Amino acid sequence: MDLLDAARQVRENAHAPYSGFKVGAALRAESGRIFVGCNVENAAYPEGTCAEAGAIAAMVAGGETGLSEIVVVAAGEVPVSPCGGCRQKLAEFGTGDLRIIMATLDGKRRDTTLAALLPGAFGAADMGTA
Ligand code: THU
Repeated sequence: MDLLDAARQVRENAHAPYSGFKVGAALRAESGRIFVGCNVENAAYPEGTCAEAGAIAAMVAGGETGLSEIVVVAAGEVPVSPCGGCRQKLAEFGTGDLRIIMATLDGKRRDTTLAALLPGAFGAADMGTA
């Protein structure tokens, strides 16, 4: 199964009763393994989590910290763009050339990179610890 199929499939499990906006994410770790996540909303709204965050958490729980590609899928007219917080989360595990593919259910795609979405990202190097 490729990343797009994996993202579309996990999107169906999204828990989005408040926004009604289901999102699926599938990432490929540097090893080649695929990890998936969906958005999980909460009645206490700020406690909800994004699909990308779920996929990243699954990757780390699976023992991997290197990210090479991610696909994010949602319904809508235009491909969904990772939120600012998720861009920062991606920057923790991916380099600027991390490939980010956004797709709609009907097949529209936008391919970009983390560097394009988060120029000047803050990272460990900014603290002098990397
Ligand atoms: N959402 C994601 O899961 N990923 C994104 O990149 C953008 C937004 C979710 C959060 C919330 O559950 C719903 O979409 C509406 O914002």
